[in-house]
Amino acid sequence: MAQETNLLLKMLKENKGAYVSGQQICDRMGVSRTAVWKHVNVLREMGYVIESATKKGYMLIKEPDILIYDEVEPYLKTKYIGRNYFYFNTVGSTNTQAKALPENTPEGAVVVAEEQTAGRGRTGRAWVSPKGQGIWMSLYLKPDITPQEAPRLTHVAALAVARAIKSAVGISAGIKWPNDIIIDGKKVCGILTELSAEIDAVNSVVVGIGINVNNERFPEGLKDVATSLLIERKKTMPNQNDGVVDRKALLAEVLNNFEKLYEGFLKGDFPDIIKDCKKLSVTIGRPVRVMEKGGGFDALAVDIDDRGALIVKKQDGSTEAVIAGEVSVRGVLGYV
Ligand code: BTN
Repeated sequence: MAQETNLLLKMLKENKGAYVSGQQICDRMGVSRTAVWKHVNVLREMGYVIESATKKGYMLIKEPDILIYDEVEPYLKTKYIGRNYFYFNTVGSTNTQAKALPENTPEGAVVVAEEQTAGRGRTGRAWVSPKGQGIWMSLYLKPDITPQEAPRLTHVAALAVARAIKSAVGISAGIKWPNDIIIDGKKVCGILTELSAEIDAVNSVVVGIGINVNNERFPEGLKDVATSLLIERKKTMPNQNDGVVDRKALLAEVLNNFEKLYEGFLKGDFPDIIKDCKKLSVTIGRPVRVMEKGGGFDALAVDIDDRGALIVKKQDGSTEAVIAGEVSVRGVLGYV
């Protein structure tokens, strides 16, 4: 958004529900009345409902449900996560965009899109990302860790998302090791962590988070395994259905929770993060199929260790630690 439009939006927001005179706006923006009117129309095209009246000026009535920084910022409590904000209406994949950010991009930058046309999931799958219905975003991080430790950020993000869903929407979600957030047996969010590294040093890590927020339905083939926060809220809180789930508050809460956990992670608190992930785990205690290149085996998920590896008990009674990123785990009883 142009700086002047941004300033106009700030003024209107500060006075939401009251008129701001054209003259006041002209003075603060240092532009003509015609220019002000043009900026008002830019905002209207973005979905802002702005009333205008001769002699009174302009009044902001309603903000649209969009994830631009100005809409998310009032909910944001972070120092650096999400403070560099790249917003797209449409993009191929926010992960691809984040991976292409220049090396001097500050840590904590985030790429957010209303729609992805080539959203990517794990193991080469597509990620359905319809316009305005979810949160499709990628965090750009530069942690001082080894490449082997990078998959741990998936756990950090999963815990941040589960906590944010609880605090912003009021729904308890579980974590399917390591990267899916589950409600009532269905997937509401997926995380795709991608690494750019030398053999022994990390350049950057991109943590992509896709949350189905206001989807009302899913395409054939996803229907049985995917859900959205709106669908789940309708099921569990029928009295609270006052329209859509607030994406901006949820997005900010994910970033707020992520920063807190990430700071702990960098200080070496990963075992504590895993302890909390385990409390929310829907994988532990379940039969799983560990998928490996050229095959796989059935086992029982029994624990998650301090490195974030899933401990599985094989049919011969032996245990094995399964590392995220190297194998995937599929539920044997339904999706989870
Ligand atoms: C999975 O469960 O397979 C991971 C899905 C990750 C989807 C998100 S949406 C934002 C970011 N951009 C992408 O292309 N993918 C991730």
